[in-house]
Amino acid sequence: MHHYTRTLKLFCLAILLCLLFQPAMAQKTPVSRLSSSDSIKIETLLSKMTLDEKLGQLSLFASDWDVTGPILNSNYKQLIRDGKVGAILNAYTVDFVKPLQKMAVEESRLKIPLIFGYDVIHGHRTIFPIPLGQAASWDLLSIEKAEQISAMEASAEGINWTFAPMVDIARDPRWGRVSEGAGEDTWLGCRIAEARVRGFQGKGYADGRHVLACVKHFAAYGAPLGGRDYNTVDISSVSLYETYLPPYKACIDAGVATLMTSFNEINGVPSTANRWLLTDLLRKEWGFRGFVVTDYLSINQMVNHGNAADVKDAASLAMNSGVDMDMMGSAFLEHIPALLKEKKVKIADIDEAVRRILTTKIQLGLFDDPYRFCNKQREQTEIMTKESLDFARKLVAESCVLLKNDHQTLPVPASVKTIAVIGPLGDTKKEMLGNWIAAGQWEKCVSLLDGIRNKCGDKVRVIYEKGCAINDNELSGIDAAVKAAGEADFVLLALGEGGEMSGEAASRTSIELPGVQNQLAAAVVKTGKPTAVVLFNGRPLAISYLNDIAPAILETWFGGTQAGNGIADVLFGDVNPSGKITMSFPRNTGQIPVFYNCKNTGRPFNPDGPKDKYVSQYLDCPNTPLYPFGYGLSYTSFSYSGIKAVVVGNTITITSNVTNTGDRDGEEIVQLYIQDKVGSITRPLKELKGFKKLLIRKGDTVSVSFTLTAADLAFYHPDLKKYWEPGEFNAFVGGSSDKVISAPFKL
Ligand code: GLC
Repeated sequence: MHHYTRTLKLFCLAILLCLLFQPAMAQKTPVSRLSSSDSIKIETLLSKMTLDEKLGQLSLFASDWDVTGPILNSNYKQLIRDGKVGAILNAYTVDFVKPLQKMAVEESRLKIPLIFGYDVIHGHRTIFPIPLGQAASWDLLSIEKAEQISAMEASAEGINWTFAPMVDIARDPRWGRVSEGAGEDTWLGCRIAEARVRGFQGKGYADGRHVLACVKHFAAYGAPLGGRDYNTVDISSVSLYETYLPPYKACIDAGVATLMTSFNEINGVPSTANRWLLTDLLRKEWGFRGFVVTDYLSINQMVNHGNAADVKDAASLAMNSGVDMDMMGSAFLEHIPALLKEKKVKIADIDEAVRRILTTKIQLGLFDDPYRFCNKQREQTEIMTKESLDFARKLVAESCVLLKNDHQTLPVPASVKTIAVIGPLGDTKKEMLGNWIAAGQWEKCVSLLDGIRNKCGDKVRVIYEKGCAINDNELSGIDAAVKAAGEADFVLLALGEGGEMSGEAASRTSIELPGVQNQLAAAVVKTGKPTAVVLFNGRPLAISYLNDIAPAILETWFGGTQAGNGIADVLFGDVNPSGKITMSFPRNTGQIPVFYNCKNTGRPFNPDGPKDKYVSQYLDCPNTPLYPFGYGLSYTSFSYSGIKAVVVGNTITITSNVTNTGDRDGEEIVQLYIQDKVGSITRPLKELKGFKKLLIRKGDTVSVSFTLTAADLAFYHPDLKKYWEPGEFNAFVGGSSDKVISAPFKL
């Protein structure tokens, strides 16, 4: 074909593609729209690519810089030179990344630049509190800022793609990955997911300080049977749509650039081979235009699932379902050529996947400058800056949740002369990072003991005793701990889990305090010294015993680099705690799942009603959790009054007064819940529909107002249509899902 005709043909094809894509590009994607010249560039490149080079773009391999799973193909450098790699994961620092990019853009035949991905889950070098901790701040701007800093630091070290946000709704704290998410509520999960995408991606990547986000794990990975990671997910379609899908959709509406499939099956079909999920829903119904990457080896693992006879079969299923990129499996590279010959996959699907990946690389600016994320100067000046560390410290404090504070035990009184820090989490930097610590450097962390000593200086004597290990049965250290408590006039008990006891492949059948920590706590509390527990954990823990014996408990999650300083700011009253948990804490493991937005059932237990055997209850435990969703105390106190719900047309305005009844200023997270009293589908007793985080001066009363429309009351029906039903409703406003005032309204 004459060269001129070929170019003209390509030009027309590109224009056609632009017209086709235009409506779908209407989603709020923060990246610049593809110009017609870029479309031509893609089509021209595509027309030159061999099948292997196309499949290379669809293949993601790990470098040997960091390892987050099994390695099937270790010769990634030769694969890069052969043009058989589209992206690399687990590689960072300019010195390590730049040579790899150089191999791609100077040694491969078509010189297509690589994308570099990494699990920047709660910070890159500056590590922030784990996402479940950040969620407890309910501070969307702070959560967005944390991701913006994470993106700035990651992009300064060669990374331009993060495998975050994880938005899997979860109600089973036995599942270790609850630490990576935003908790049990779908509405809040959506708001936090959007904030995280905005933080990572900004308004586009032109400044080189933002990265592609990757919403994961699509879909419903947070609902494994038994809370056991990677286990089967079997839920109703209504639950899937009502509870689990919305946060992924929220990310897509926020313009997320990529999406990761989940390991699990949904109702019998693994996500990675689920055409309904990845094409009918994701592409056709939701209009997602980014690219879909599998989770680690999840194509190959379909053989284990038993829905593919071999990896070749799995590759065919994945390609025909809508997967664009194969993480680590080499399944596309090795098997698509034969599948193509056997007409089991279509070149059109392969080309479409390549287009999506090349489009993303153009949007990242990598064709203009493959080294734009390899800036030595930025690497030296924009990482762990004072501003970032100061912000991290602030977010640690904002993420803390005061769970108990009898007799105003906290803040630590100014009169205290000797503080004993006791417990296995008191003097450890490493555990402060939690899990998915990416490039975090634990040696740069501030431990609790460091933070206390930084705060006290030489004014207060601080002693430390470990007392026991995090998770063994050795009791011999308890005597020394009791002795240290005896010498002190205030005790801080640093208890909880190890950082790796939550996160991936870290499910627990018991979510009690591990080891002999309860015994340590009992012995120390028995001394009668004022004692506050500082809790470090990646999941809700069943700490009923601790709650019975300890006068005060501060939940601090895993706070990251500035953990000790941020926690000390709260313990000593420089910050008034305002956090509220976003995942219920069960009284014991047997109570799981327990969550606030549950149904009433036909035989509801009524705590205020007459005793009745035949109701939904346990013989040995109340139905209510130890601490409910939305709960968290303050050093001051708040009261609610005067709630009103006014309906005008299909708009409902709910107002209430909130009074700071204590003796110090404080922030309150005012929560709005709704109950639809009668529905053709049973409705939860409460559903979060809004919140406001307000600073209320001591003694002040503020009026807070929320506006909803009927659309906010819509829910999914068995035909999966979403609409609201007229009838009677209750509006609730309060500082916790179990402490609200209410007002009825009709629609
Ligand atoms: C892991 C995780 C996923 C992560 C990926 C890359 O197995 O499931 O969340 O992003 O592999 O490390």
